[in-house]
Amino acid sequence: MIRRSVQALTAYTPGEQPRDPDVIKLNTNENPYPPTPRVAAVLAGWDPAALRRYPDPVSTALRDRIAALHGCRRDRVFVANGSDEVLALCTRAFVENDGAIGYFEPSYSLYPVLADIRAVDKRPIALDAAFAWPVDAAGAWTLPADYACALFFFTNPNAPTSLLCPAAAVRAFCERSAGVVVLDEAYVDFAREDNMALALDRDNVLVARSLSKSYALAGLRVGYAVGAPPLVRALDAIKDSYNLGALAQALACAAVEDHSAMRANVARIVATRERLVRGLAALGYRVLPSETNFVWARPGRLSAQEVFDGLRARRILVRFFDGPRTRAFLRITVGTDDQVDALLAALAAIEQEDRT
Ligand SMILES: Cc1ncc(COP(=O)(O)O)c(C=O)c1O
Repeated sequence: MIRRSVQALTAYTPGEQPRDPDVIKLNTNENPYPPTPRVAAVLAGWDPAALRRYPDPVSTALRDRIAALHGCRRDRVFVANGSDEVLALCTRAFVENDGAIGYFEPSYSLYPVLADIRAVDKRPIALDAAFAWPVDAAGAWTLPADYACALFFFTNPNAPTSLLCPAAAVRAFCERSAGVVVLDEAYVDFAREDNMALALDRDNVLVARSLSKSYALAGLRVGYAVGAPPLVRALDAIKDSYNLGALAQALACAAVEDHSAMRANVARIVATRERLVRGLAALGYRVLPSETNFVWARPGRLSAQEVFDGLRARRILVRFFDGPRTRAFLRITVGTDDQVDALLAALAAIEQEDRT
């Protein structure tokens, strides 16, 4: 009854969503601050009677707002139920059954699951021991000459490592790729630079963005992609007719319009990130230079698993990925200053407890 490929699938494991409101949740890269008050205003004025009607199937107003934000035409914009939906649709639109999907390792652990759902080959490229991309000193990619795939997910900044690949290397990667490259920029608003320019001038690049992190709307489920009109048309052809609800469209419009509120929110988080990095370094952690709203940190003495368990016992959740490349590290979301202080105090207590 159930397809063999589905029976064999190891499903994606999302971060834990505890019911207890007192838990300090630094495990899923959510924004600790609310979205712009304009979102609250639209919600307060929302007439439930409007829900009798189906929504605009192509989210015209939202696409227009996003197009204005990026200085492009609406036919370059696709919107979806979270950027996860963008990624899933790409695997259906751009990969034949005998094609392959590529990504770096470690990066977003959803990509191999999406490839398994499509039952197509996976071609991961390993990052080096320092989680850097395989690029030589001259900026050239050191990939096997025959490396190719129909679709490549390039997470930048990367998750869970928080590092940013320089724009010149990203461009070179897209230029050497014959297939579609999706630049997954879920965290890019927290970084120094982005690669939206590539989506606007290359015909094989889509930039995927999320409203879940910098816009503080993870619960709304809105993401989008920008790229060449033929790629956007392909996604439109296969999406669910009404993939974004009316309320999601209206609230996302309000959020995207208030770009300055998003920038202010990001600035707060970036300031707290620096404080978190300093605090972790003082505790002997090795912390990679973060360009995201989380840090990737390796405890100095205890194992990451021990620290994860110690924090959990103190009702602080962070993320631990138990893979060969990832199990020495913890991914810690940047929360409020108070949450970060509580985290640092708990980490100090865990160290202390272990010494006594
Ligand atoms: C790299 C990356 N891409 C995409 C997503 C999905 O974001 P969304 O909430 O828009 O589906 C995430 C979520 O954690 C992510 O880490």
